[in-house]
Amino acid sequence: MNTLNIGLIGAGRMGAFHGETIAQRLPGAQLYAVADPVPNAAEQLVHTLNTTAKVYTDPMELIKDPEVEAVVIVSPAKTHAANVLAAIRHGKAVFCEKPMAITMEEADEIVQAADEHQTFLQVGFNRRFEKGFRAAHREIAEGRIGTPQLLKSNTRDPELQGAESKPQWTIFLETLIHDFDALRYLNPGAQPVEVYVAADALVRPDLKESGLLDTAVATIKFDNGAIATAEASFQAVYGYDVRAEVFGSEGMITAGGIRESSMTRYNKDGVSYDTSRYDQHLLFEAYVEELRAFVDGVVHKHPSYATAEDARWALKIALACIESVQTNQPVQIPKPALV
Ligand SMILES: NC(=O)c1ccc[n+]([C@@H]2O[C@H](COP(=O)([O-])OP(=O)(O)OC[C@H]3O[C@@H](n4cnc5c(N)ncnc54)[C@H](O)[C@@H]3O)[C@@H](O)[C@H]2O)c1
Repeated sequence: MNTLNIGLIGAGRMGAFHGETIAQRLPGAQLYAVADPVPNAAEQLVHTLNTTAKVYTDPMELIKDPEVEAVVIVSPAKTHAANVLAAIRHGKAVFCEKPMAITMEEADEIVQAADEHQTFLQVGFNRRFEKGFRAAHREIAEGRIGTPQLLKSNTRDPELQGAESKPQWTIFLETLIHDFDALRYLNPGAQPVEVYVAADALVRPDLKESGLLDTAVATIKFDNGAIATAEASFQAVYGYDVRAEVFGSEGMITAGGIRESSMTRYNKDGVSYDTSRYDQHLLFEAYVEELRAFVDGVVHKHPSYATAEDARWALKIALACIESVQTNQPVQIPKPALV
């Protein structure tokens, strides 16, 4: 079987993980090229991974490379839309980390372009590829807990790092965006109609003036009547915490967790277990699985499990949340024009 030539855009923390997965964990793929505008960043990653991948400093040159069949975009959020659009227009399959875009105009343009070019496009909503969340989605879709009535999804990072350089609305656009998508995934077929947000700077109150919010709860109403909360904190002292709960007319489903492993310790102090302190530990399998699904989808022409349309809905919720913070009012979510 031929291997899929993948070009990686962005060789930072997450790019290094995805690069390693492509180079070492996916037999059907090859890390063909890496691009990063910071001098030597791409070289360094290629060297660390001990591959012969080509190196670019200009992501557009990588996208134009005729040997690159698919691109994996792991650059900073504000650069995603330009990279995605260029890749679509050059006929490449696209995996893009979340958020796919940060404005509705960008998101609409991508949805339309992907449709016109029949692009295989997958967004980095890793919870859709986590075993527990996947099983939960299946159960709920099969009606095993009846009609969803109350949903919860939370993301708590272990530690607020690099706070000064985080863009202002990161908590909605880059963190809770996972929860917004997870809530849609766990309430299959339903769409959000209204949000209301309470948010603050409780971890770093000194940064509130500059606009960085580190703690937020969004209440989201769906068109099937379900009421959801999405909750995030940038600092949970006990570890990385990603969980969801769906309560329905016939029961309840939970997914996610905080455990580092299945090991449980029983001693004179009681019962305890270790928690994950790093996203790449807690979600290791989901991160690998999402790229495996990407390669599989491109090669075998399966539908994407995390589409541009899903990304557009999640962004719509995130932008409504920002408006709710700014106005301190509930915000209605109209259906996107292109649905
Ligand atoms: N799915 C997840 O759970 C998850 C987790 C972490 C990060 N991410 C996402 O991955 C992306 C990158 O995050 P990170 O933590 O690796 O950030 P990072 O800052 O560590 O790395 C970003 C890299 O992109 C490079 N870069 C800057 N401008 C660029 C451009 N125009 N084109 C190409 N590359 C450019 C930088 O030099 C840097 O090497 C973000 O969108 C983030 O939201 C997702």
